[in-house]
Amino acid sequence: MFANRILSGMRPTGSLHLGHYHGVLKNWIKMQHEYECLFFVADWHALTTHYESPQIIEQSVWDMVVDWLAAGVDPASSTLFIQSKVPEHAELHLLLSMITPLGWLERMPTYKDQQAKLTDKDLATYGFLGYPLLMSSDILIYRATQVPVGEDQVPHVEFTRELARRFNHLYGRDPGFAEKAEAAVKKLGGKKSKLYNELRNRFQEQGDVEALESAKALLDEQQSLSLGDRERLFGYLEGGGKMILSEPQAMLTVASRMPGLDGQKMSKSYNNTITLREDEVSVAKKIRTMPTDPARIRRTDPGDPAKCPVWQLHQVYSDDAIKQFVIAGCKSASIGCIECKQPVIDAVLVEQRPMRERAQLYLDDPSLVRNIIADGNEKARKLATETMRDVREAMGLSYS
Ligand code: TRP
Ligand code: SF4
Repeated sequence: MFANRILSGMRPTGSLHLGHYHGVLKNWIKMQHEYECLFFVADWHALTTHYESPQIIEQSVWDMVVDWLAAGVDPASSTLFIQSKVPEHAELHLLLSMITPLGWLERMPTYKDQQAKLTDKDLATYGFLGYPLLMSSDILIYRATQVPVGEDQVPHVEFTRELARRFNHLYGRDPGFAEKAEAAVKKLGGKKSKLYNELRNRFQEQGDVEALESAKALLDEQQSLSLGDRERLFGYLEGGGKMILSEPQAMLTVASRMPGLDGQKMSKSYNNTITLREDEVSVAKKIRTMPTDPARIRRTDPGDPAKCPVWQLHQVYSDDAIKQFVIAGCKSASIGCIECKQPVIDAVLVEQRPMRERAQLYLDDPSLVRNIIADGNEKARKLATETMRDVREAMGLSYS
């Protein structure tokens, strides 16, 4: 049995590029040999923003899976699947929605940020508000211990932890516990009952530790409580029940800031990418026409690598000897920019060659990809089913 279970997902939003490779996939590929790993296509998440163009999803899903396989994600060591093929995620999303305070979702930084950024889309939808909750369901349903994500997604994992805690507080108890505790709260009497409930809510919903301390002090003052009720009321404040859902850790993907063709971070929205399996002619052309230090107007003008996007690619791809050659050659104008770019072109092509070869295998026989995913869906579904059995039981839904 593995101690750690890693889960990560990616929205299918068109071809992956070298930024994804250096930023995310290389990390997945390394981890797959060290841990139990589940990687999935978050196609429902894509719909939260692309609900008006669902026809692009199918192709993007398969392209992305081929990109993963091409990059070296190994279906023999990790489980690859598609979110919508494990409908239990949706059931958990629904059940968790019952206990999710609206404020938690409204406060998510991504919620307002994305709405402000994607102005061409109407994101004032229920589904978009629930994006982090769907993500929590993805994570909790596999009882993942670690979730590799970029910095922007860390608040979502934090939210997932709080939600798991809240779930366990609410449902991780012996049958009848809540009723008995509620009865004990009533015995405190009007004002004090109300205060106890307020303090408890503040602690459980906002993690307000002062509220917890005040509530404990309140209980300490109560002379007339029976021992059983006192214990119940203390327990009810903090939980202390069974762990049904486990709290995941965010595993921050070290921000390898892969530079794009213009020196900004490589990103589809900047139109500065090289895709993972881009053909060789196109790669060479893109790099050859990349902007360079604007001071080098003529071949005889010296330049400064610090002001050149090509230099940033050398940082990723070149060894010390080449870097020395570039610095000296650029500053003295003894090399031209095309000459300087050639080692980068060569290195990118060398990096991509095995990817293109692996991809070809899958493009020639798409049933290979379908089988890998069918297999992964089945494995994932088995795990999800086990968690859902516990969740339904905890929420009083296991009757027939
Ligand atoms: N929200 C993630 C992103 O945009 C994708 C995602 C969905 C995810 N569900 C997940 C990542 C669960 C990790 C775990 O990148
Ligand atoms: Fe950039 Fe290289 Fe040209 Fe210098 S020689 S400006 S580093 S491309």
